[in-house]
Amino acid sequence: MRSLTDFWRHLTSDDDVSQELAMPTAIPARDIEAREGRGSADMLAIQVVRRRVFHEEQGFIGASVTDHDDPRSFQALATVPVPPDLPETFPPDLVVAGRLVVSVGRLTMGQGPGSEAQITWVATLPEYRGAGAGAAVMRLMLRAADEAGATTVRLSAQGHAIPFYRRLGFIAIGAPYDIRGMSHQLMSRWRGSDLD
Ligand SMILES: CC(C)(COP(=O)(O)OP(=O)(O)OC[C@H]1O[C@@H](n2cnc3c(N)ncnc32)[C@H](O)[C@@H]1OP(=O)(O)O)[C@@H](O)C(=O)NCCC(=O)NCCS
Repeated sequence: MRSLTDFWRHLTSDDDVSQELAMPTAIPARDIEAREGRGSADMLAIQVVRRRVFHEEQGFIGASVTDHDDPRSFQALATVPVPPDLPETFPPDLVVAGRLVVSVGRLTMGQGPGSEAQITWVATLPEYRGAGAGAAVMRLMLRAADEAGATTVRLSAQGHAIPFYRRLGFIAIGAPYDIRGMSHQLMSRWRGSDLD
């Protein structure tokens, strides 16, 4: 079995993996399930997705893909059925309870009632984008925020993702700013904004 490092190297190399990975974007919406992530297997899969997207794909962060807010946060993930032709280059840690984890996000509540919650670490595996998995993860977190009584939810959107968040009821606050050379935009959503 390949190591995780080999897996990522394989995914990001320019050799003939494009065919192998050009698979599952045509996933029916009914096959996407969003749920809360709990326990070590979920957390491991969540970190694999984070590392794949923010470290290996974007080079936005180092190899560390966890922080002190993880244990107290609501972790959301979206899964799809494991395709029969899943390349063996996908790390087995992405398969939890017989399904493939493809999208993740984290909701961290503020302290006290009526306070602001924050969403971070939103990512979908590149091979599964555009199928609705990211929106499913976001809706789950927004419902959890509403239920927990958060007045507002804020996030720092990468520039390219602003339209994605707008569709979910977020509006831009203030001017864009740079984080490690990448344009970001503070966005907020008020409690009870429509969820499709
Ligand atoms: C942003 C991201 C999480 C979206 O995940 P996804 O699973 O592809 O999103 P979905 O398929 O659920 O898309 C939901 C809707 O948003 C739209 N959308 C998604 N990404 C978009 C983008 N970058 N620009 C414009 N629209 C976008 C989709 O077209 C879809 O619209 P529809 O409902 O009309 O079909 C994903 O592109 C990603 O992981 N990007 C890299 C990491 C990143 O930028 N994370 C966010 C950090 S702030």
